[in-house]
Amino acid sequence: VVSKQQLYLDVCATTPLRLEAQQAMAEAQQQAWANPSSLHGFGLAAAECLERSREQLAQAAGTTAEAVLFCSGATESVNLALLGAAACLKPGRLLISAVEHPAVAMAAQQLRHRGWQLETIPVDRQGFVDLDRLQVLLAPPTRLVSVIWAQSEIGAVQPIQAIGSLCRQAGVLFHTDAVQWAPHGLIGFDQLPVDLLSFTAHKLGGPRGIGVLLRRPGVALAPLLGGGSQENGLRSGTEPVPLIAGFAAALTAAARESADQGRAIKSQRDQLLKALLELPGKLRLELSGPDPAVQPRLPHHISLVVRDGSGVPVPGRALVRALWQQGIAASSGSACRSGGDPLGPSAILLALGYPAAEAAAGLRLSLGPGLSGDQIATIPEALLEAVERISTSASGPSA
Ligand SMILES: Cc1ncc(COP(=O)(O)O)c(C=O)c1O
Repeated sequence: VVSKQQLYLDVCATTPLRLEAQQAMAEAQQQAWANPSSLHGFGLAAAECLERSREQLAQAAGTTAEAVLFCSGATESVNLALLGAAACLKPGRLLISAVEHPAVAMAAQQLRHRGWQLETIPVDRQGFVDLDRLQVLLAPPTRLVSVIWAQSEIGAVQPIQAIGSLCRQAGVLFHTDAVQWAPHGLIGFDQLPVDLLSFTAHKLGGPRGIGVLLRRPGVALAPLLGGGSQENGLRSGTEPVPLIAGFAAALTAAARESADQGRAIKSQRDQLLKALLELPGKLRLELSGPDPAVQPRLPHHISLVVRDGSGVPVPGRALVRALWQQGIAASSGSACRSGGDPLGPSAILLALGYPAAEAAAGLRLSLGPGLSGDQIATIPEALLEAVERISTSASGPSA
């Protein structure tokens, strides 16, 4: 595709590799390429790099190396957390929020087939979990809870401290999917009332194919796979040391810059959101998820339900393709969809109470660093043009 400009507004899907991660990976690939379980000098060098990276990541996440369990990504981390913890408990009730990523939703379904009773914690129109309902649902036989920290599609940042405290008071194990929070805020794991926490490198400038599960000491976990007993027997498979080194470097850089850069990106996001919502009548845009002026929302995140001038919802997937013709990389929601139907309405917007046609008209813009004010200023007009192009092609050339 040839275009004047190419703007990447999809960092919630994945991020380009940070320089710090690239350098750490290149160095590890050169000096720590061997199998870290080997007992010769090459292996010892790899093991040393692995443990140094583990320490580094632990420090950036506010915990100690003992809590860190590396695996292939957040999907595996979430599955290990939920299936692994549940295997060590008597089947009971599992609570998940109505706005989970499919990784959590599908692991929960698996547990349902293993005798667990699955219950969904409802959310309000902005996507926040109902704490009163949670408190009621925490009664026995609830044994396990999973709530996403920051929602990828609608940007809602849940009150994780309050949710974790309720779980703790009830003596119930609590897992959070922190994938979208980790690039934007400090994790501070040891200060959190959270037992298990998942995140992944590729959303914060690290490589794809590496994720982590943070585990509070003493939380029992059964491995998903049998094999060479790496990671204290909880995750077999030779550790990908260069990926781990890149992950640790990326998280350290993200944690260092999150406050300053968060402020800068938030101000660009606020500017863009204002311009979009002020667009004249040819387009009717509604912010989905929380209003960042009054409620906690990811600082770089805009999600919209898009309707044309007559109020007809515009299919998000068509809009994303039309925007890319103008060089704008956006998303129609999450890159992954619940329920196995990538073409269907968003399960997240449905959970917020949107009707099906509107739940298929979502658009997500997630801003990364390096966008100029001038570039951002071109987006509202590009969106107008994209919707016009879709309307014209829908009415057909012979009409
Ligand atoms: C909230 C959330 N959880 C989990 C995942 C899965 O992460 P990974 O791609 O590392 O498996 C993603 C990625 O799309 C996500 O956004």
